[in-house]
Amino acid sequence: MNKQTIRDVEVTGRRVLVRVDFNVPLDDGRITDDRRIREALPTITELRRRGARVILASHFGRPEGKVVEDLRLDPVAQRLSELLGVPVAKLADCVGPDVQRAVAQMHNGDVVLLENLRFHPEEEANDPAFARALASLADLYVNDAFGTAHRAHASTVGIARFLPAVAGLLMEKELIYLSRALEDPRRPFVAILGGKKVSDKIGVIRNLLTKADALLIGGAMSYTFLRATGLSVGKSLTEDDKLDLARSLLEDAAKRRVTFRLPDDVVVADRFAEDATARVVSAKAIPAGWMGMDIGPQTSAAYAAVIAGAGTVMWNGPMGVFEFRPFSAGTRAVAEAMAKSKAVTIVGGGDSAAAVQQMGLADRMTHISTGGGASLEFLEGKELPGVAALLDR
Ligand code: 3PG
Repeated sequence: MNKQTIRDVEVTGRRVLVRVDFNVPLDDGRITDDRRIREALPTITELRRRGARVILASHFGRPEGKVVEDLRLDPVAQRLSELLGVPVAKLADCVGPDVQRAVAQMHNGDVVLLENLRFHPEEEANDPAFARALASLADLYVNDAFGTAHRAHASTVGIARFLPAVAGLLMEKELIYLSRALEDPRRPFVAILGGKKVSDKIGVIRNLLTKADALLIGGAMSYTFLRATGLSVGKSLTEDDKLDLARSLLEDAAKRRVTFRLPDDVVVADRFAEDATARVVSAKAIPAGWMGMDIGPQTSAAYAAVIAGAGTVMWNGPMGVFEFRPFSAGTRAVAEAMAKSKAVTIVGGGDSAAAVQQMGLADRMTHISTGGGASLEFLEGKELPGVAALLDR
């Protein structure tokens, strides 16, 4: 990694503003997945150990520049306090005189959490005055929010103009695993892509065609590819305006001699519901009126065999409608094959990370990214603005 990290700077007695991504899922005021909070602990603990005053800042949801009571960060501060075993004060705002006063009273090793940055419209507008106000709270800026590194906001980019800016340990870990997979993978390098839309993954597929040895396709987007090869896909979800594009991606894969696999068999249902009538059919014979909901058992076994022989596996996007139990087998098969394999296994954030967690297989992956959109943009080969803003080594 060519960026400076908290290891490269003096932090003792200094006020350190750490941008974290505590945008965690909440259900009825309860955090349902605290992974993003736990993954930030190494940076927070290391800064405390070295006597820094830790000022944490995060966005939470999309309040669109207004105070939204349900999007206050109090439940996050409470969870963080439990995990750290020390009090974490949640301040009432993220800038202003009261915040200045609270920060001035901090001692070495203390931790405070600022209120949701996105209560101020200036955050997403990357307003320089707001960035300067945030910067005025601290002597040093640390970005540990990989999940938000694709956003050029005041707290991820603007602030780096006013303070020395370095990476946290989670940011460093994410960049090391993801860039190693792209630039120097143990081969064969197999990428598994699922999810709803081809259009969401065009950039990723294009970039991976130049890096990977094989692409295994699942999820609803496989029906757009199957249709593009001239097959009927019944009522399956497709993007009909993307058929030419799907054809050109298939041609590109053939030209580059990259294995590009589409499902051989699929699980179809008579309607989109958990209790729908389901059956397994060949991908070449999806009956009219039925829709594809998952990859079939033959495809699961074939994909598992490719994974077993891989040196690096990168997975982004479920293989089917895994929220519905009868259509979760393909996603489970991929997760289990990755858990069993000796390859370097990397799971992109978002739905596939959630699936791996739900299946209790998270500990058996080499790396699960905390970034959804951010990891996709990274896999597309884009420079993330929140990373670009940090000091080079
Ligand atoms: C995420 O959950 O992907 C990040 O926290 C970014 O959130 P955003 O898409 O609302 O910017």
